[in-house]
Amino acid sequence: MSQNNYVKKVAIVGAAGTVGTYIVEELLKTGKHEITAVTRKDSQAVIPAGLKVAKVDYEDESTLVSALQGQEVLIITMHIRAPQGTQEKLIRAAAAANVPYVLPNEWSPDMADEAMSTDIILGHAEIATRKLIEELGKSSWIGMITSFWYEYSLGTGPETFGMDWKKRTWTFFDDGETKINVITWAQTGRAVAKLLSLPIQPEVEGGPSLSGYKNKFVYVSSYLLSQKDMFAVVCRVTGTKASDWTIAYEDSTKRFQDARALVLGGDQTAFVKFLYSRLFFKDGSGNFEDRRGLDNDVLGLPKEDLDASTKAAIDRAEKGLKYH
Ligand SMILES: NC(=O)c1ccc[n+]([C@@H]2O[C@H](COP(=O)([O-])OP(=O)(O)OC[C@H]3O[C@@H](n4cnc5c(N)ncnc54)[C@H](OP(=O)(O)O)[C@@H]3O)[C@@H](O)[C@H]2O)c1
Repeated sequence: MSQNNYVKKVAIVGAAGTVGTYIVEELLKTGKHEITAVTRKDSQAVIPAGLKVAKVDYEDESTLVSALQGQEVLIITMHIRAPQGTQEKLIRAAAAANVPYVLPNEWSPDMADEAMSTDIILGHAEIATRKLIEELGKSSWIGMITSFWYEYSLGTGPETFGMDWKKRTWTFFDDGETKINVITWAQTGRAVAKLLSLPIQPEVEGGPSLSGYKNKFVYVSSYLLSQKDMFAVVCRVTGTKASDWTIAYEDSTKRFQDARALVLGGDQTAFVKFLYSRLFFKDGSGNFEDRRGLDNDVLGLPKEDLDASTKAAIDRAEKGLKYH
């Protein structure tokens, strides 16, 4: 099959960002792409070697269109507090430049679950983005559903998965047995690289292809874990025993509603608690593996080492590393 059946030119926003770093690393490993970092003109980001750089000004659409001209894929990993409308400018520019595929800023829980995505507020913006791409009619979206980043989430503090490593406390939501999908940063990077290595059109009838994911979600995961599963592996890799920990239980719905009231009252510090507690509802919304099935096998993603990933999370907790 001709090389024209494979994506060559890939643009990425956030090439030096948290998840973008891993995506770029894996894309570079394939050696198949010409990668362009779309970066703000005044950004201090250190763009990885091997990438082209397109400096843009979000106030000047022509810079965005020119950065995206000729690109076959635009990957957006956008800072969570970028001004509202920033992604929309990229989407419009991608359409103006006729970029066929856009991976919008998802990197998220299952946003096809309308009840959950509405509850966590973020769903509205993501639905609007996908709708805009479809309405503009020039690009197709592919939504990367990854759920929460495991190393960061577990290691960051009790607001996420309930663990406070330094205090040796763990709050289990409900009975602590609700399983959710989680992903490592490396697996996220691999998922994107494998996706963009698929032939654009199937090479055998019914075979996998990039075009097969047009306006669809890609479900990828590293592990399906309950809090109690996480607790067991943390004890194993740290040599701690259950008796070393103070355990508490909290109703997931109450935890969510209390945090929600704070968020709606303007307290953004409650946002992480609000977001994470919703995924542990007993409605199974955090477990897309069972509900939707995973694309891991289609993409050829490897099985990972849970102990190693958990050690990485504990290492972050030891160092007190936060998200930003
Ligand atoms: N699944 C999870 O657990 C999880 C956790 C956190 C976030 N997320 C999602 O992943 C997305 C990406 O997060 P990330 O941490 O990888 O991103 P990030 O590192 O915070 O930021 C990515 C890039 O955004 C650009 N940027 C920063 N400030 C900006 C501004 N004011 N206006 C426009 N661009 C700006 C920067 O690129 P340049 O400097 O090159 O312009 C930066 O490298 C988030 O938006 C969120 O949706 C998921």
